[in-house]
Amino acid sequence: MTGRDVEVQVTACPDGPLLVRGPARIVDADGREIEKHRSTVALCRCGGTAIPPWCDGTHKVNGYRSGDGAD
Ligand code: FES
Repeated sequence: MTGRDVEVQVTACPDGPLLVRGPARIVDADGREIEKHRSTVALCRCGGTAIPPWCDGTHKVNGYRSGDGAD
């Protein structure tokens, strides 16, 4: 990695969203960029959010289990 490279990190939160840190471009299914207002964003993976693609915390009440060893 050179000094100009900036890493993007994606963290799968147990029973929660995907946290995306760094200068990632978020696009919809048609490739259109979805503007993000923070350097770290949370992408819903439970399907329950009212503000897709962003996590709105609904995973905490809808019983979502990621099945990635969080238990
Ligand atoms: S993961 Fe948080 S609302 Fe879906």
